[in-house]
Parts: sequence; C-alpha cells; structure tokens
Amino acid sequence: MPTVQEIQRAPEGDEPLTMLTAYDAPTAAIVDEAGIDLILVGDSMGNAVLGYESTLPVTMEEVASHTGAVARAVDDALVVADMPFLSYGTTKGVGIENAGRLIKEAGANAVKIESGPHTVDLTERLVDLGIPVMAHLGLTPQRRNQIGGYARQGTTEEAAAEIRDLAAKHESAGAFSLVLEHVPDELAAEVTAALDIPVIGIGAGPETDGQVLVLTDVIGLSESVPPFAEQFGDVRREIEDAVAAYRDAVEDGSFP
Ligand code: KIV
Ligand code: NA
Repeated sequence: MPTVQEIQRAPEGDEPLTMLTAYDAPTAAIVDEAGIDLILVGDSMGNAVLGYESTLPVTMEEVASHTGAVARAVDDALVVADMPFLSYGTTKGVGIENAGRLIKEAGANAVKIESGPHTVDLTERLVDLGIPVMAHLGLTPQRRNQIGGYARQGTTEEAAAEIRDLAAKHESAGAFSLVLEHVPDELAAEVTAALDIPVIGIGAGPETDGQVLVLTDVIGLSESVPPFAEQFGDVRREIEDAVAAYRDAVEDGSFP
C-alpha cells in the first residue's frame, strides 16, 4: 500500500494522486483493485448513502462502522477516515479520542479533519501520537450554516490569504496532505506550489498534486451533485435494469 510517506513525496512524481470516497466493502474493493491511491471514508456518506440532507448529522458510530467495512476490504490503498461534525474541536481530548477510535477500532490509516485556526494544535498533537492527518481547507461543508451554503471559497484576497496561511500552518503542524475544496484554480495552484505536502483538489482546477471526487457522483448514483462533480459511469441505470429484470422474471414465472 502507499504509505503516508510515499503519499507525502508524491509532488516529486509526475503522476497526479487519485483519491475517491467509498463507504462499504464491495465498492471499496473495486476502488482498491482499480489502483486508486487513497480511499476516503468521507462524511459525505451522510448525503451519499445514509439519506441525510447534509453531513452534519453523521455520527462517530456511523463513520467508524463504514470505515471498518472499507478497511476490511482494502489491500493496497491508504484508508482515510473523515472526522464528523463536532467529533473534534470542542476539546483536544475529545478530538484525540475520536481520531484514535477511527485508527484503533475501525482500522483507518489516517484521519481527515475539516481544518481551521482551531485545528492546528490538534493536528500537531495527533501527528505526535502517530495518527496521520489530512487537512481540509477551502469549502468545509461542516460549516455550511456559518458560511451560508456551499459557495466557492477564497474568492476575495483576504479569504485567499487566510487559506494560504492555514495551509502553511497545517503543513508545519505535520499534516501529510491537504484537501482543497471548491476554490479558484489560481489559488489552488499557488497553495500547491507553496507547500511540500501534496494538495488534493476537488473543484480546485488541474494544478493540484491530485484529485478527489465522491464515488456516488462518479458512478452516477447520487441524488444531487455539486457543480464540480464529474460522472464517469451510470450505475443507477445498471441497478434499475437488474431490479426490473428480476421483477419481470418473477412475475412472468421465468424465474426460478
Ligand atoms: O466527505 C467527503 O467526501 C469529502 C471529500 C469531498 C473531500 O470530504
Ligand atoms: Na467530508
């Protein structure tokens, strides 16, 4: 499997890093066998597979359960578990215990944290303890109520400067990589050039060291998709066809 150290050296290579989400064992195995470098058990599971309208209701139990399913199925990819809303940031101890659960009990190799000024110390402490941290800046959907939705971030010079500053602080705190979500391409290119650790973009243009998308968006299984999503297949159609064929076969007596 790629180690955290190999991921960290990725900016020196010439192939971009690939990351996708997965939430269950069979799809995680498919993603892993395709040679995807990192599998994120994202809190996007809230919308993607749990039927919530946002990521805010997702619990530690849910992330731990889905991370366990993914970790058991994956042989090669680095498995990153997303820390859900309010599972960190209240007190340092709570954040450490919850990150620890995702590593110790669920079997993740690293955690991802929606980052801000309040996560610099926590990142440093987790890294000291041996828990690799992927930072996440730009659009941080857990703050949707505070920021008023899911708009592109870093669009003013002040906001861009804050993202540049927080990216540098999280690299110094020991984060092994950074997800940069829904920011202008030029800002993503600047942050990518400024950091030694890999920047993995989503809705952040082509200049980052890697790309991440939500699996259900990629395979055509999402109810609604963000403007920067890209569909590469139509699994919904496959499921519809299989279910309809089964129904017809039972109803017309051709099966069993
Ligand atoms: O939860 C998630 O899937 C994410 C990615 C969009 C980066 O955080
Ligand atoms: Na997330």
